[in-house]
Amino acid sequence: MRFKWSSLFRVMRDFRKPASKLSESTRVDGAKQASSDETGDSNIRIPQHVAVIMDGNGRWAKNRNLPRQAGHRAGAENLKALCRMCGNRGIKYLTVYAFSTENWSRPDDEVHALMNLFGEFFRRYDTELAAEGIRLRFIGDIPALPEDIRKIIVEGEANSINRDNMQLIVAFNYGGRREIVQACQKLALLVQQGELEPAAIDETLISQSLYLPDVPDPDLIIRPSGEMRLSNFLLWQCAYSEFWYSDVLWPDFSDAHLDQALEAYTDRNRRFGGVKSV
Ligand code: FPP
Repeated sequence: MRFKWSSLFRVMRDFRKPASKLSESTRVDGAKQASSDETGDSNIRIPQHVAVIMDGNGRWAKNRNLPRQAGHRAGAENLKALCRMCGNRGIKYLTVYAFSTENWSRPDDEVHALMNLFGEFFRRYDTELAAEGIRLRFIGDIPALPEDIRKIIVEGEANSINRDNMQLIVAFNYGGRREIVQACQKLALLVQQGELEPAAIDETLISQSLYLPDVPDPDLIIRPSGEMRLSNFLLWQCAYSEFWYSDVLWPDFSDAHLDQALEAYTDRNRRFGGVKSV
């Protein structure tokens, strides 16, 4: 019994069709060295993939005696700003945590507001995202989302497929554990069909069975709002990511905070389990 890539792709397609072919997987960061115009500092090392946990919207709103939904709205505005900040700095992939598989346990009105904001965000900003060459992709348990949201996702991905300045990957109804479980289910199905030997399952095969196998692992994960946990975000992919935390609440996260994070990243010595490089 031999493993066939074609079978894996067929099963993956049944779960969710990947938006592009496998191609760009790499662990090398610094896809583009920033010019001094972009960051004000030519020695800054630019990560290829930055991931952000957009936390602190509720506290931002509470500090202003506003409803939590106002915090999410301000957070969505700041997501647009973040896209511009990252695009200007030559970051090629930006993944943002917009709604987790656990967020359904929030009050109904907050869940409803987040779903509405999702639709509004992509309707309202798509022209700007297009002007900035931003391709949209989504990760998460997409089939479990309401139909109107799935439609926005399918259209957003299809309409932006040829944009190549940066990829904005929105984690929506996303859970790292669920992603790994679903990858295991795909592989188990192949084993059941006699197309894969259990012993042939390795780290590469699991990586290739995740939601977006062509996207490189995040180099840098940013979490504002003072919390220091991953909250089920990119559990498999962050094995060797660098982390940067700050007390700033997400709607207040600015260019200056991104530059602080990039400076900290520049100073990190990434060894990937090896020895110190010179
Ligand atoms: C966590 O802050 C934030 C969320 C659960 C939602 C994040 C969503 C956005 C920033 C905007 C939506 C973007 C799109 C594309 C729809 P929190 O509510 O837990 O804040 P808290 O910890 O201060 O209560």
